[in-house]
Amino acid sequence: MKEYKRYLVTSALPYANGPVHIGHLAGVYVPSDIYTRYLRARGKDVIHVCGTDEHGVPITIKAKKEGVTPQDVVDRYHEIIKTSFEGLGISFDIFSRTTTETHKKIASDFFRKLYDEGKFIEQTTEQYWDPEAKQFLADRYIVGTCPRCGAEGAYGDQCEKCGATLSPTELKDPHSAISGATPVKKPTKHWFLPLDKYQSWLEDWILKGHGENSDNEKWRPNVYGQCKSWLDGGLLPRAVSRDLDWGIPVPVDGADGKVLYVWFDAPIGYISATKDLTPDWEKYWKSEDTKLVHFIGKDNIVFHCIVFPSMLKAHGDFILPENVPANEFLNLEGDKISTSRNWAIWLNEYLEQMPGKQDVLRYTLCACAPETKDNDFTWKELQNRNNSELVAIFGNFVNRALVLTSKYFDGVVPATGNYTEYDNETLAELPKLRKSIEDNIENYHFREALREMMNMARLGNKYLADTEPWKVAKTDLSRAATILNISLQIAANLTIACEPFMPFTSQKLSKMLLMQKMSWDSLGGKLLEEGHKLGEVSLLFEKIEDAVIDAQLQRLADIKKANELAAMKAPEQKQEIVFDDFQKMDIRVSTIISAKKVEKSKKLLELEVDTGIDKRVIVSGIAEHFQPEFLVGKQVLVLANLAPRKLMGIESRGMILMAESLDGSLRLLSPNEKIESGAVVG
Ligand code: 2FM
Ligand code: ZN
Repeated sequence: MKEYKRYLVTSALPYANGPVHIGHLAGVYVPSDIYTRYLRARGKDVIHVCGTDEHGVPITIKAKKEGVTPQDVVDRYHEIIKTSFEGLGISFDIFSRTTTETHKKIASDFFRKLYDEGKFIEQTTEQYWDPEAKQFLADRYIVGTCPRCGAEGAYGDQCEKCGATLSPTELKDPHSAISGATPVKKPTKHWFLPLDKYQSWLEDWILKGHGENSDNEKWRPNVYGQCKSWLDGGLLPRAVSRDLDWGIPVPVDGADGKVLYVWFDAPIGYISATKDLTPDWEKYWKSEDTKLVHFIGKDNIVFHCIVFPSMLKAHGDFILPENVPANEFLNLEGDKISTSRNWAIWLNEYLEQMPGKQDVLRYTLCACAPETKDNDFTWKELQNRNNSELVAIFGNFVNRALVLTSKYFDGVVPATGNYTEYDNETLAELPKLRKSIEDNIENYHFREALREMMNMARLGNKYLADTEPWKVAKTDLSRAATILNISLQIAANLTIACEPFMPFTSQKLSKMLLMQKMSWDSLGGKLLEEGHKLGEVSLLFEKIEDAVIDAQLQRLADIKKANELAAMKAPEQKQEIVFDDFQKMDIRVSTIISAKKVEKSKKLLELEVDTGIDKRVIVSGIAEHFQPEFLVGKQVLVLANLAPRKLMGIESRGMILMAESLDGSLRLLSPNEKIESGAVVG
């Protein structure tokens, strides 16, 4: 395997049209941060670049909906996303954005170079045009009925209901999301990158270069598989420009109203972010000694493995990625995470609602990261991981080691006596665990690496439980000293080993141990000198109570309910009637005097009602919706001249009017202020 002099780590640029959620974190940012922190701890020359992806149609749609400019939208979300990443300890060297002047210039120059060198095809095609808004419609701006599942509101590029990938011309009854008008087709010129010309080069580079038998890093099966299937399908030219008024203008004459396609400019954002970070940026992008690794989610594979590399190849000045570790998707409580349905845990909200619990989230997301297949996040899992692993194993071990040292040795690392065989075996595990963590991180197996880090805590916890220094100290203080010295060495090792995964915990622990040496190279050995004074002890983790989790689950249940209601449709309107038909109905404000259940009936209530005309009995099928005592004294609307009929032997004279909600629940209709019984409604 090739030795590299430096590392350039990129994390997918999140769109600046909403906050980031746990799916983004588990898929991209937690793994990339672990990888980068690990390399930094090893003293490698590494930079980690990211930023917000600020162009594209969804941003313009959001701006229109809110009545603000796209710039307002991206300014707002850039700040929210940046602050929340910092809050979670995601340690980018730069968090840039694709609306910077540097980026506009680099992206524009990139396009221009390819244009000047004849690397694009110019083609005029027919696209949908909104005759009212007088603009071309990007795929997302066209909505209609899905040809596959019949759902209304499918987009021109995708149906969110059935997940089908669509093209706008397939939609039934297409209309513009801007004006509602029926779009017409109109010719428009665009620039295409002829991916077909890069097909055989891509096959060599990916299938041979990063496949099973290659000497380079082998790409994950999911990444490799997706690339292979694109390549097997045969690549076609792809448009790299769009008709839109938000984006980087196409830098050629005769391209008014045209901007670079967001997926053309966004990955170039990695280059411009590096340039904004350091004047030395070229050494990261133009030297074969740099290892470039793109962390992304699976929906970005084609862009990072096929389209962007083809752009880089066409350009010629830049290196290609050595690996593209893409994760699959994370679900939430058994359901696909969805921004539009608000089915997500948003990072900014988590940080507000769960203060001090950053590492619990990092730990849980790494432990359930969808590395090989889609995976599910549940609040119960977060609680269990915290209570049964972080509190019960990691925290418990560290706390016992420190508290006992404080009790018996005044908080000073005690001197060791002779080691037993068990002591030696325990200490010998540390370098083995280090090696395993390293191998796993370097192979992008972060879940396994985390497990091994936790095994170090398990090792310490077991060692303490087996050796029982609290008992030994009563009879053999020098043996207790050895045990605690070894335990403290394990705790110190944990401080380094956990840093890539749980930086806040590492920092807290290193403060408690007043550790000097924190480099990865010292991991596996003895880190604390005899006589070293320890700092103040506090709890590393706190138990998460059921009430906290229940509140979060309730929030999700409320969202689900709101979504279900929003998806429900009002029943269709009944047949038309004339005014005389309406006039025939005699509706009166009435007051319920008494209410009781009808014997042997689940559904019926017998109500005595003052209609202002008389006092009468009405039998109503509402027993499953209202308690009788709730109804007494309520004012309601009664259809008074409905012909009497017998129900369960009781004559009912009239009908109480109700509103049936879309979810089937009933509401009484009452005047909005008290009014005399008998008042006529009409
Ligand atoms: O899928 C997304 O969220 C994109 N904004 C990722 C862009 S990654 C890169 F190309 F910038
Ligand atoms: Zn569909």
